[in-house]
Amino acid sequence: MNKLLSCELTLIAACGLRGELGLNNQLPWHQETDLRFFAHTTQNSVLIMGRRTFESLGKKLPGRTHCILSKQMVNHDPELIILADLNMLYEWVSQNNIKKAFVIGGAQLYHQLAPYCSSILITHIHGIVKADTFLNFNILWDCELTQAHFAPADQKNQFNMTFAKYSNPYVKDLKDIV
Ligand SMILES: NC(=O)c1ccc[n+]([C@@H]2O[C@H](COP(=O)([O-])OP(=O)(O)OC[C@H]3O[C@@H](n4cnc5c(N)ncnc54)[C@H](OP(=O)(O)O)[C@@H]3O)[C@@H](O)[C@H]2O)c1
Repeated sequence: MNKLLSCELTLIAACGLRGELGLNNQLPWHQETDLRFFAHTTQNSVLIMGRRTFESLGKKLPGRTHCILSKQMVNHDPELIILADLNMLYEWVSQNNIKKAFVIGGAQLYHQLAPYCSSILITHIHGIVKADTFLNFNILWDCELTQAHFAPADQKNQFNMTFAKYSNPYVKDLKDIV
């Protein structure tokens, strides 16, 4: 896959065996190695997220640009980019010449933006947990698994997990979202 995209999007998520993503606007497990993987992978990057995911973070993540989709959020922080729809997302990305960004959730954003993501990084948590938010595995339908790395449970990680990388040969360009 070697398409010239206006902006290369990577989806990054961790989910349980049934697609579990979150419970009460928090992660439903404690997997320290996955948190470190997320922090390392997304450092110095643009993060695209839904309003609920931003609220779940509790604070801004240092060294990253926060781009939040919301129709109702009032912005008191000049460092936050609040965008009211996906057209505005494309306009902001193109006006600011953003060439790469991560889609970090939650379920609503994954569902809407997965077709525009050339890479999908999923940490498959080998467990079934209580959740109220789920990833629809259909987003992987056309994708090819290109990497997988197993990490066993230990004192800092409740469950075994597999770090998987998928590529999407049918990725759509974000400019076609308008
Ligand atoms: N396991 C993981 O990797 C992971 C990653 C991220 C999040 N999570 C979990 O996922 C859950 C949150 O996911 P979620 O699906 O409920 O919420 P979400 O996708 O984070 O945010 C949903 C909100 O985003 C805004 N939004 C969505 N699409 C929009 C659009 N096209 N235009 C404008 N605004 C848009 C709306 O905000 P307004 O209502 O303000 O308009 C909507 O209510 C939490 O439990 C969180 O902990 C898990």
